Amino acid sequence: MKSLPKHDVTDLKLADQGRLKIDWAGRQMPVLRQIQERFKKQKPLRGIRLAACLHVTAETANLMLALKAGGASLTLCASNPLSTQDDVAASLVKNYQISTFAIKGENNQIYYKHLNRALAFKPQLTMDDGADLVTLLHTKKRSLLKLVIGSSEETTTGVIRLRAMAKDGVLAVPVIAANDSQTKHLFDNRYGTGQSTIDGILRATNILLAGKTVVVVGYGYCGKGVAMRAKGMGAQVIVVEVDPVRALEAAMDGFAVEAMEMAAKMGDVFVTVTGGKHGINLNHMKKMKDGSILANAGHFDVEIDVRALKQQAGKGQLLRPFVRQFILGKKKLYLLADGRLVNLSAAEGHPAEVMDMSFANQALAAEFLVKNQGKLTSKVYVLPASVDQMVAKLKLKSMGKGLQKLTASQERYLNSWQEGT
Ligand SMILES: NC(=O)c1ccc[n+]([C@@H]2O[C@H](COP(=O)([O-])OP(=O)(O)OC[C@H]3O[C@@H](n4cnc5c(N)ncnc54)[C@H](O)[C@@H]3O)[C@@H](O)[C@H]2O)c1
Repeated sequence: MKSLPKHDVTDLKLADQGRLKIDWAGRQMPVLRQIQERFKKQKPLRGIRLAACLHVTAETANLMLALKAGGASLTLCASNPLSTQDDVAASLVKNYQISTFAIKGENNQIYYKHLNRALAFKPQLTMDDGADLVTLLHTKKRSLLKLVIGSSEETTTGVIRLRAMAKDGVLAVPVIAANDSQTKHLFDNRYGTGQSTIDGILRATNILLAGKTVVVVGYGYCGKGVAMRAKGMGAQVIVVEVDPVRALEAAMDGFAVEAMEMAAKMGDVFVTVTGGKHGINLNHMKKMKDGSILANAGHFDVEIDVRALKQQAGKGQLLRPFVRQFILGKKKLYLLADGRLVNLSAAEGHPAEVMDMSFANQALAAEFLVKNQGKLTSKVYVLPASVDQMVAKLKLKSMGKGLQKLTASQERYLNSWQEGT
């Protein structure tokens, strides 16, 4: 038997179950599979040490396999203490020889210990979901920065943090905002978060959504998806937004639009997807109806002010997995997944079909960084539009959809000014 790579996972005995899960997800990821096949031949990541800090799910495992096929040596740690699928982590170590540090339910101290173990690998490329690894590199592990060719980032919150670092002049490596590819955020954030957030809420609570009032806080790409799917389940949806353009968009999409003070009194289920903090604060919670359910699908666990809730109402009581009851005055409030990403904690995260495109972008970002080594400066880049076109074409083809082509004369017309009324 081969010796195992360095790891810290819950139970290696779960490996075979994890392998089946990875394989099942892989079947729904045809775009990533094609990239993996090309990587296997061309080895664009030959000899590259890559550390990834991502949700350790079956879809991420398929990304790891594509990167490995490209020649990279890998280490993986979790980008959230609650999102790890322990069977997948076990399989990555035992079946695929990939160094993995991730335990579902790990505390903050172990979470950072795992990030440090990933960085001990002295990576040349890093990959983040939320920018925790790159932040550690720029703070406590600065000596490793000189080894890093570049980094890529999966989510809106991470991109916001990285742009803030670039603005402050502290970003020391080139970064690809994989999130900002159209084939990522238009699909993953909207349809992925939309479906999997509802899935997480239902798996945790088993409530009936039909006839309920669902308050969606934030009407960005994720919020649009959650609102759309909640409406589809028969809920009345109220959107809370701070951006007037997006609030208007929500109104014209047919949703009620209210300030949080008002929506707090009306909702049965609340979902935050703002990327910011305290979209729901203690004052809002005090206004809520008895029995209100609170869930977050934004990246960090600060969107609902859980700390203030705990200061006021104590540590609460766990009623079912991922459902904690708090008594606030005379009311009961139910917080899901401790205010962490409900879709990845109480369900399995996005369906593989959508992660197919997100992770195609991540794999291509790694290739782009290596190909352009030395040519990029320390700022946040977006992959070229041609990559989006290519990923979308492959996805459409795999779905058996047709695509119309412009004729030469149509193309000329669209690129000229002479023809008019
Ligand atoms: N759960 C997941 O699997 C998943 C997937 C993708 C992204 N995310 C995360 O979800 C969050 C949202 O991502 P996005 O792509 O929709 O971002 P976005 O920037 O497109 O949208 C966020 C919206 O929230 C609004 N907003 C900010 N603060 C607010 C407040 N206090 N009250 C009301 N509205 C407020 C903003 O105006 C904006 O319209 C980010 O943290 C992102 O990283 C999670």
